[in-house]
Amino acid sequence: MQLLTGQTLSFSADPFSVPFEEAVVHHRRGGVLVETGRIVAVDAAETLRAAHPQADVVPYGDDLIMAGFVDAHVHYPQTAMIASWGLRLIDWLNTYTFPEESRFADPDYAATIAARYLDLTAAHGTTTMASFCTIHPGSVEAFFAEAQARGQCVVAGKTAMDRNAPDSLRDTAQTAYDDSKALLERWHGVDRIRYAITPRFSPTSTPEQLEAMGALWAERPDCLMQTHLSEQTDEIAWVRELYPEARDYLDTYEAHGLLGAKGLYGHAIHLEEREIDRLREVGAALIHCPTSNTFIGSGLFRMAALKARGLSVGLATDTGGGSSFSMLRTMAAAYEIGQLTGTPLHAAQLLWLATQGSARALHMGDEIGNLAPGHAADLVVLDLASTPAIAQRHAEASDLWEAVFPTIMMGDDRAVRATWINGRDVSA
Ligand code: GUN
Ligand code: ZN
Repeated sequence: MQLLTGQTLSFSADPFSVPFEEAVVHHRRGGVLVETGRIVAVDAAETLRAAHPQADVVPYGDDLIMAGFVDAHVHYPQTAMIASWGLRLIDWLNTYTFPEESRFADPDYAATIAARYLDLTAAHGTTTMASFCTIHPGSVEAFFAEAQARGQCVVAGKTAMDRNAPDSLRDTAQTAYDDSKALLERWHGVDRIRYAITPRFSPTSTPEQLEAMGALWAERPDCLMQTHLSEQTDEIAWVRELYPEARDYLDTYEAHGLLGAKGLYGHAIHLEEREIDRLREVGAALIHCPTSNTFIGSGLFRMAALKARGLSVGLATDTGGGSSFSMLRTMAAAYEIGQLTGTPLHAAQLLWLATQGSARALHMGDEIGNLAPGHAADLVVLDLASTPAIAQRHAEASDLWEAVFPTIMMGDDRAVRATWINGRDVSA
């Protein structure tokens, strides 16, 4: 049994629904009791020390202990081509993304990048992510095997695409169904691994392939389904040409059994009213990818308006369309987009989105994404004065929010003092 001491931050509610003072529990001198991979208790450090004198104390001083970051939409195979210059979505996919993803036909390359990606994200305090893989079943095997070895909770799936992609990156409706089903049966629910049915997006799937993915989801409604929705205006126009009978972009999924509560819809920037209504009615999750949306020039996600209308929203880097592995940098970008849409998000809302908000989007809000008894001991410990620039600002802070906001806006992996996964300090 271990007792981590420092400042602790937990959520008791969604700070978009109640005032942030009511949504947050903060201990200035707090403790987190951890045993066999789980959080047993969160309280004042003195209280826990008195009740559990046998626990090994891991002192983190004034550092902030909170739930590890949950990145709700990434492409781990894009690790090696992150921050590629200059193009908009479709050209960016054709020029940079598809050639890189073709390399994942080699399982050794997939294993190398999976390990590199999970090292990088752990160094940035991210403990769970939902990742697209490539069309190659070996890319999924490599990612799950690496995550399993680390005791890590991850969601991933084989990316299905059977048109508008190079020969080396096309499957078929039938092989996508067969391969996805085999991977799902082999991995879903093994240790902390979850399978997500993963049609890339409507432009790279025939209606037959979307239908096959929808059929698999109907057989296995316990799985998540992840895809992309309404990211760029030229993409939307292309979808309209490819699916002339569809009412809108979402309808291309809805008509093929790919709209549901366990659906994760990445980007979702240029939504029409009907789409917003349907996504809310079924309880689906929108995944906000702010660094990607500015980097690829996609547009401004309407966080405040969509949350106010009751939609579930998670936060994500969208590596490597996103320009950073850091959920701190991602929160900063979400803040900036909030400003550009007239709604400055509070630090409590940003931290909630990066942890419990994303965990709820992944339907794992009771297991991960909060510092709470019974939750997995997946934690990040943040140094709130990690660089000279942040430290001088932090020195002037008069409350928790002033203390933490400079790290949200200016922090990176240097702010991550430690990352714990499954009750183990993986940064040691
Ligand atoms: N739409 C379809 N595939 C992708 C991808 O890999 N990245 C982004 N940002 N958008 C996509
Ligand atoms: Zn994506």
